[in-house]
Amino acid sequence: MDEGLDRPPSREIIRLTGAFRFLRPYRTQIVLASIALVVTATVTLSIGQGMRVVIDRGFGDGSDLILIESIALFAVLVVLLTAGTFARFYFVSWVGERVSADIRRAVFGHLVHLHPGFFESNQPTEIQSRITTDTTLLQTVIGSSVSIALRNALMFLGGLVLLFVTNAKLSLLVIASVPFVVAPVILFGRKVRQLSRTSQDRLADVGSYAGEALRQIKIVQSFNHQDRDQAAFSERVELAFRVAVRRIRQRSWLVAIVMLLVLSAIATMLWVGGRDVLAGSITPGELAAFIFYAFIVAGSVGAISEVYSDLQRAAGATERLLELLAAESALPEPAVAEVPAEPLTLALKEVAFTYPTRPESPVLKEVSFDVAPGEMVALVGPSGAGKSTILDLLQRFYDPVAGAIEFGGVDLRRMRLTALRDLVGYVPQDPVLFAGTLHDNLVYGRPDADDAMVAASLKLAHADSFVAGLPDGLDTVVGEGGVGLSGGQRQRLAIARALLVDPKILLLDEATSALDAQSEEHIRESLKDMQGQRTIVVIAHRLSTVRQADRILVLDQGLLVASGTHEALLEDSELYARFVRIQFASHGGDRSSRVGAASAEATRSAAETLAADGGEGNGEELSPGPEHRYTG
Ligand SMILES: Nc1ncnc2c1ncn2[C@@H]1O[C@H](COP(=O)(O)OP(=O)(O)OP(=O)(O)O)[C@@H](O)[C@H]1O
Ligand SMILES: [Mg+2]
Repeated sequence: MDEGLDRPPSREIIRLTGAFRFLRPYRTQIVLASIALVVTATVTLSIGQGMRVVIDRGFGDGSDLILIESIALFAVLVVLLTAGTFARFYFVSWVGERVSADIRRAVFGHLVHLHPGFFESNQPTEIQSRITTDTTLLQTVIGSSVSIALRNALMFLGGLVLLFVTNAKLSLLVIASVPFVVAPVILFGRKVRQLSRTSQDRLADVGSYAGEALRQIKIVQSFNHQDRDQAAFSERVELAFRVAVRRIRQRSWLVAIVMLLVLSAIATMLWVGGRDVLAGSITPGELAAFIFYAFIVAGSVGAISEVYSDLQRAAGATERLLELLAAESALPEPAVAEVPAEPLTLALKEVAFTYPTRPESPVLKEVSFDVAPGEMVALVGPSGAGKSTILDLLQRFYDPVAGAIEFGGVDLRRMRLTALRDLVGYVPQDPVLFAGTLHDNLVYGRPDADDAMVAASLKLAHADSFVAGLPDGLDTVVGEGGVGLSGGQRQRLAIARALLVDPKILLLDEATSALDAQSEEHIRESLKDMQGQRTIVVIAHRLSTVRQADRILVLDQGLLVASGTHEALLEDSELYARFVRIQFASHGGDRSSRVGAASAEATRSAAETLAADGGEGNGEELSPGPEHRYTG
């Protein structure tokens, strides 16, 4: 019981002090608001004294002079009160808005620099709701609840002093009732705080469910999942509602009980005070002033108790926002950064890796390989082998758990992150385009690129002709996720986007979805154009890309099982030969896949034939290249 009463407020104070550093820059506004606060409280309190004078003297001696004077003074006070209220409301709300804007910016600014793994254990949709709902809550609280609490705390203190000045005996009566009012405030307030945190969490669930379903609307409708989504969504909404109702019930009890206690105390006081007036021991003006102050004191306690739970909710929201601000990047940067030597070599040295979210299953066990400057290396291997993970590690989205990755002999951990990523151009497996025009998306990594540079990278990515064919060309607006473009088009735009930053190392995660023969040919040609000019690490799913590489690395279950040229691997690696056979079957069209599937040996020899006549520039422009026979 004891700790129930003592501990929560002190924890809340600690939580709210975390937000104080956001208030510090706005000292001027806060001082102005405080002055306005004191002025309005003083004016309000002085009205009681005025009442006393008017009732006792103005009515007592029957002259209207005092009444006129009093009303004139009252008019002045009203003007002061109006000005003070305006200033208080304006500055306090201003600070509330300003601080929540600053917190939003600080949180986002901090989050965009965090390691990607952070967003695997913390859902981006939930964070999104924290940035919006939690800061909005904080804004309301700083902008109004805090001001209400401060104003009423002042009124409470001032009112209390004036109560004693007016009548000490009646005041003791009021004081005696205070603990009865405060106890339920603390008791119910605690429950309200807990429930409000749960309430915010449930609301975030509602938001993220809706977001996910609406973003993936085609999948939802394709599987006729609407009804089940509707049911699951309703369940979340109702859960949020039930938690909110529990919170509201606690709060209603709080308000009602405080009201009951306050009014009972006032009734008692009226009774005692009224008898004193009748007995002639106090004047009617005194009683009137006393009642006025008692109402002010009671009203301020009521107001504070009402915003107290808001303050507690704000403490919860602040806690969550500060948690986000306190999250540290798992990718520390060196105090003194090193710059890799040119020409840039690339090396993995006995790299082992496990995703932090899945510590029990190692993804890379011990992978070592070098890539020479300008070399094109193809990574092949079954799905889940760890190919995309290697590209992630090459960009230091994660650090290896053992071993090291080096660019030009420098461990990635000893380089500045921005410098490292300047060296790398990345084309993801499922290229994402941001909302905006095609031009915006192309210059994403290099906003200062001129039209000639954009045109050159489009040409290199073999994306120029389809962009030219769009009615709005580069001004075509693409939505979130690049709606309205084919997979092959998006991949080529992503290549152009990566090339525009002129990276030393190009990392390309080939789309697994089957591109049409034409797109595939375009990507193959653009790789061919780039070959030798920059280091290329490509995760290849298609034979056409693999064939083009200087060297092929075969990855299986987190281990590098073979490496070499296409021809050598066909001889040495069973896994690679199988990969080629599967590629041959799936890309060979109906005719050849049937024949190929009939006999592994026949397929094998077909693949070798492919190896034999796969030369450079084999009539690329005029007739389909050798790969074309296998792309149907
Ligand atoms: N963010 C992640 N958290 C935990 N595990 C992951 C994560 N990303 C990938 N994995 C796991 O790591 C393994 C390797 O994944 P990776 O994406 O590197 O495979 P891949 O070789 O690129 O496969 P694919 O050819 O299908 O793209 C898989 O078992 C996968 O489930
Ligand atoms: Mg992958």
